[in-house]
Amino acid sequence: MTTGYLALIILAVILLQLAVGAMLIYLRRRSHYQQLDSQTGTAEPSTSAATITVSADNTASALPAEAAWKGFREFIVQRRVPENDQQSVCSFYLVPSDGQPLPAFKPGQFLTFKLAISDADQTQSVVRCYSLSDAPRPDYYRISVKRAQAPVGLPEIPAGLASSFLHDQIREGDTLQVRAPGSHFHLMQDEPLPIVLIGGGVGITPMLSMLNTLLENGTDREVWLYYGVCNGSDQIMKQHLQTFADKHQNFHLYICYSAPLESDIEGIDYQHKGRVTLHLLRDTLKLMRYQFYVCGPKQMMESLVPGLQEWGVDSGDIYYESFGPASLIKHDKTQPYAAAEPVTVTFSESGKSIVWDAGAASLLEFAETNNIDVMSGCHAGSCGTCQTKVKSGEVEYTQQPDADVEPGHCLLCISTPSCDLTLEA
Ligand SMILES: Cc1cc2nc3c(=O)[nH]c(=O)nc-3n(C[C@H](O)[C@H](O)[C@H](O)COP(=O)(O)OP(=O)(O)OC[C@H]3O[C@@H](n4cnc5c(N)ncnc54)[C@H](O)[C@@H]3O)c2cc1C
Ligand code: FES
Repeated sequence: MTTGYLALIILAVILLQLAVGAMLIYLRRRSHYQQLDSQTGTAEPSTSAATITVSADNTASALPAEAAWKGFREFIVQRRVPENDQQSVCSFYLVPSDGQPLPAFKPGQFLTFKLAISDADQTQSVVRCYSLSDAPRPDYYRISVKRAQAPVGLPEIPAGLASSFLHDQIREGDTLQVRAPGSHFHLMQDEPLPIVLIGGGVGITPMLSMLNTLLENGTDREVWLYYGVCNGSDQIMKQHLQTFADKHQNFHLYICYSAPLESDIEGIDYQHKGRVTLHLLRDTLKLMRYQFYVCGPKQMMESLVPGLQEWGVDSGDIYYESFGPASLIKHDKTQPYAAAEPVTVTFSESGKSIVWDAGAASLLEFAETNNIDVMSGCHAGSCGTCQTKVKSGEVEYTQQPDADVEPGHCLLCISTPSCDLTLEA
């Protein structure tokens, strides 16, 4: 037997041992999950994919939600607080103008704003969503808004419309039009499981609401927070988080700086150099069942959410929210609802009938491309602004809507036609 042949056999034996080891860990983890499942019951569905058909004669709303008030309500900006050294994130403390009681909300939910933004020529109505960034309080709501900069190297592109308006023009004492808190992405408070909160950039805001609620209510659940930002000048709520970490033994803080400054000290200002990755989670979490809550930029969501599932986390234990045009691919476009025959979409008020473009991500994108005037806000099924009446035909949702949808209506931003369709737009 040659030395090379012997080395090959040794390598094969090592690989076999590794594979058996990995399989054993996987099986142990699954059986642990199943054991916990039988103790606690299955978690409510997360915001993962759901295909829902909506037709013109639907008599029930797709997802009834009880709003704390109907339509928009006026709030006064009581206080503005810059939250980081860069001053790129500003918190707004909001109190209702009518002085009536402030309804509670579920930590993780967001508010929808209708902003009247004027320039020299016109005033336009812009709808945007912002997560509530503090625990429910009787006297105020808080949002924390990041200024959306123009893309690097493209000076001709304007900076973010709504976030610039809030930062530059909204002062203490000004009023804002606000829709009631909503969202299916929120803390499951009755579950006894340990919790892992993961926030990337300004995606930290719903996590702050959950964290404040849990720790201020004296939870005995173990809570991990992984917060990914560029560096110390970008991070928000630094002192607040550190105080929590010092005070609560069941709270484990992992600040991750992808590009720390020279003044940022590892072990003091931050715990990990780099992004929040599955690798980091696997290295720092124990082998047990958790509830995961994730909110962050597209790249982070696209790697972490499927990564957690591949790691063996039950999808019912993963809750996530995206802050923009749905950043997770939630269906295979070639699959069920793609119509075999060409489909025509008629926009009755605009008087246009157009053959559906299978490459369009949604009816909203299709309408905008064809210069049909439709209102939109979040582009993610969250705010309800693009709700449109289905006069005939059917649409299919590519994800579960967060907004409350009236019977016989659909959200254009997350739907596609499944047959010839007439919309009141
Ligand atoms: C459920 C939910 C919760 C949210 N919570 C928060 C929160 O807590 N905090 C927060 O800060 N945000 C949050 N957001 C995001 C927020 O709603 C807005 O999307 C964000 O503030 C950007 O809006 P904008 O009007 O400032 O930017 P937009 O005007 O929408 O522009 C967005 C980006 O596109 C760029 N842009 C503009 N025109 C072009 C063009 N022609 N080509 C290429 N790029 C262009 C802009 O420079 C900007 O960077 C949330 C969103 C959702 C859906
Ligand atoms: S744009 Fe917000 S739900 Fe469609």
